Amino acid sequence: MSRVIIRAPRPSDAGPYAEAVLRSTQHIKPWNPVEPDGLPDLLQRQGPGLRSYLIIDQADGGLVGKCNVSNIVMGRFCNAALGYDSYLPYAGTGRMTEGMRLVVDRCFADQVVGGLGLHRLEINVQPDNERSIALARRLGFRHEGFTPRMLFLAGAWRDHERFALTAEEWQPLEGPQ
Ligand SMILES: CC(C)(COP(=O)(O)OP(=O)(O)OC[C@H]1O[C@@H](n2cnc3c(N)ncnc32)[C@H](O)[C@@H]1OP(=O)(O)O)[C@@H](O)C(=O)NCCC(=O)NCCS
Repeated sequence: MSRVIIRAPRPSDAGPYAEAVLRSTQHIKPWNPVEPDGLPDLLQRQGPGLRSYLIIDQADGGLVGKCNVSNIVMGRFCNAALGYDSYLPYAGTGRMTEGMRLVVDRCFADQVVGGLGLHRLEINVQPDNERSIALARRLGFRHEGFTPRMLFLAGAWRDHERFALTAEEWQPLEGPQ
């Protein structure tokens, strides 16, 4: 049984979210913006193009991580990008990987069972971000290529390695998720 669950963020998460992000500043800062007060804005932006999930520890209810499923495009593409952070003290315990498996499963699941009905997912990672590349590979993502100057982060346009996975390559998780 998974040590974590995933669920949509809600307004009452703002306080615990801020604490988790602040606690994890040094861990997140090299790779992603650190925005402890960012949850209300994230909630406002939820819609057809963006769905966020919090990864929660089953044992103590603590916030393990967050994943944004962004740039969701349906129609003939059914594609989205995954962006994520894990939080201390759970980072590096395998819980984030477990939570991301649940997120990927939800992304590929049919809309009639509460999934997003996507066909392809991308993870874009800066070349030196070994922990994120390890996570993408643990989830089964394939390395597709290199995208120069892809995202504006920490004051510059950063190169990214592009990983992807399609629904055909995913073994759906068993049981109620
Ligand atoms: C990228 C990031 C989300 C990866 O999360 P994480 O905390 O490493 O993920 P997990 O909690 O699943 O931990 C995995 C590690 O714990 C280890 N581990 C320990 N116990 C484990 C267990 N019971 N089960 C599985 N793995 C376990 C794994 O071996 C792995 O270590 P490794 O990568 O050295 O092999 C995290 O490093 C992070 O937030 N980084 C800063 C922001 C960032 O880079 N975001 C992504 C931008 S693309």
